[in-house]
Amino acid sequence: MSLFRTKNLDDMIANSRKPGGLAKVLGPFDLILMGIGAIVGTGIFVLTGTGAVTAGPALTLSFVVAAIACGFAALCYAEFASTVPVAGSIYTYTYATLGELAAWMIGWDLLLEYGLATSAVSVGWSGYFQSLISGFGINLPVELTAAPGAIPGVHTLINLPALCIMLVLTAMLSWGVRESARLNNIMVAIKVGVVLLFIFVGARHVEPANWKPFMPFGYNGMLSAAALVFFAFIGFDAVTSAAEEVKRPERDLPIGIIGSLAACTVLYVVVSAIMTGIVPYQQYLGIDHPVSLALKHAGENWFAGFVDLGAILGMTTVILVMAYGQTRIIFAMSRDGLLPKALSTVHPRFHTPFLATWMVGIVFGLIAAVVPLNVLTELINIGTLAAFSLVSIAVVIMRKKRPDLKRAFRCPGVPVIPALAVIFCVMLMTYLSWFTWVAFAVWLVLGLGIYFGYARSRSVLNKA
Ligand code: ALA
Repeated sequence: MSLFRTKNLDDMIANSRKPGGLAKVLGPFDLILMGIGAIVGTGIFVLTGTGAVTAGPALTLSFVVAAIACGFAALCYAEFASTVPVAGSIYTYTYATLGELAAWMIGWDLLLEYGLATSAVSVGWSGYFQSLISGFGINLPVELTAAPGAIPGVHTLINLPALCIMLVLTAMLSWGVRESARLNNIMVAIKVGVVLLFIFVGARHVEPANWKPFMPFGYNGMLSAAALVFFAFIGFDAVTSAAEEVKRPERDLPIGIIGSLAACTVLYVVVSAIMTGIVPYQQYLGIDHPVSLALKHAGENWFAGFVDLGAILGMTTVILVMAYGQTRIIFAMSRDGLLPKALSTVHPRFHTPFLATWMVGIVFGLIAAVVPLNVLTELINIGTLAAFSLVSIAVVIMRKKRPDLKRAFRCPGVPVIPALAVIFCVMLMTYLSWFTWVAFAVWLVLGLGIYFGYARSRSVLNKA
């Protein structure tokens, strides 16, 4: 039965309010910007190319389907976050409801989601960065531009820019959350500005004829693209991992989660409609900068350069927030004894989990430097879809187990909305490749091994 032991919720809530922990500095505006910071990135700036080729102009519908799946899950997240404002996001919620084994597996799953997402987005960042500096006549030695084997027929050793951006952002995060949030807000403002610029400039060049046929590859193509561009929404859940650093978590977390998701959905649907309206969808084949390509196609070269710059800043904030979420989940798992204790020590001066932050930066920076990660988007998606399904189930269990808890935000329509969240997420998972399923299974088996070999006996609950 020890596999199903749960943490005491009331203790957790009380502990999070004790002085001396993480600094409580974030407000609702910080959270919405943090959400947008984590959400708008590679998904819209890079993956929409492949999405357009897969779905045709129906890519707009793909974004709507993915957003619906996320929206249902977001309502469940919001209820949890407003009830249990404790660092560690869904990992912590699961620990209080489904028990230790499920919590470990979800934490392990989140390490995959957040960690590989920082690596993958760093690689995307590196590509845009190199293209930008080459515009100024600066070119890195080719060996330092990509991971070994990333470019067929070219001898490459390491993706140096990807490693560097990870390390720079790690240094920032380890110095302090307040400072990181401030810089994040500025970069997010620029990123959103660039997306709005695209909408404003691009809308004038739309040829409605390009939207016909609207669904050239049928529902199958539309849903396959939805399973891919789901990646573009990943990140709103990172808002919840900041719970212990929020001034008024009961009110601010639901605002942060739902506000950032809603804003991004509107932006994505409009951007994808304009993109497929300017350039016939077939022409996005193999293009990794589809948004700026659309503007170049329309003869707006100057604005296209702005979009490139915005994409770089956009991806910077995604890495920042994802790395941040990652360290907070490790922090929570270590505090529970499931990971080594040193990972949850708070730095006396900076009030951040210093060691955990640097560990994440170095490990996933190195992965970004030496592993060609473009195929891993699907792996990140499957991990996240599994996590969303679990959090939706956990909300229903929590209602049954603890009807007495004060819920500042209640997910409407329980259990129908959580059930729909699971159905949508599992439906999207079925559109991912068998390779992704196998790789995901391997990761989960590895996690089980570590749980039984290490974490289970060291768990704080075990000692109690
Ligand atoms: N949603 C994030 C992105 O698009 C992960 O880059």
